[in-house]
Amino acid sequence: MKSTFSMLKGAPLLPIIQPKSVDEGLHLAEAIANSGLCNIEVVKRSDAAFEALSAIRKQFPELVVGMGTLLNRNHVFEALDAGAQFLITPTSSETLLDTLIASNAPFLPGVATPADILLAHQKGIREMKFFPASLSGGTPFLKAISSVFSDVSFCPTGGINGDNANEYLSLGNVRAVGGTWMMPKAAIEAQNWQAITLACQQSLTLFDE
Ligand code: 3PG
Repeated sequence: MKSTFSMLKGAPLLPIIQPKSVDEGLHLAEAIANSGLCNIEVVKRSDAAFEALSAIRKQFPELVVGMGTLLNRNHVFEALDAGAQFLITPTSSETLLDTLIASNAPFLPGVATPADILLAHQKGIREMKFFPASLSGGTPFLKAISSVFSDVSFCPTGGINGDNANEYLSLGNVRAVGGTWMMPKAAIEAQNWQAITLACQQSLTLFDE
């Protein structure tokens, strides 16, 4: 199985974008690229998502672009057709996990409980998305399961922000964090792409000494 974490570039941050149109997706990708962040998760929460991902891949080859909110086999196939470089699901089922494994692409299945982690672990999966992180136990949960699933690494998302990201990133079983906090809604609505770049740059200061 291919590692998603080792294909992410630069800071271990995964900005999550939910473009309502291809044009909005391209502006967001440009704002992210201008900030120095290198990775994007485009979530399939609008009809424009697959097309937006394709356009971003073509226009910003320097970015690593994956697709999230994949809920079924067809979503996985469509994401791959669109050019997704990695695949993310919000939760897991046998069918979804088997489809992800068969895709031969890097992927992070969503988990929120020890039972979810066990199901994925039994299939040989060692990298997972912990979602929704803040509602599912946050850092205390990740600490508690670290000795049980000592070979599993996580990307927590859901409720992560500039104030708590470092608490997650300081854990030995966290390899990256993701979220939308560096994509302020008001800036997107105002089409203020420079404000998005600034918010992304601000998220990078998490890694300043
Ligand atoms: C996800 O898909 O991981 C979440 O929608 C991100 O949650 P956030 O908006 O709290 O960052």
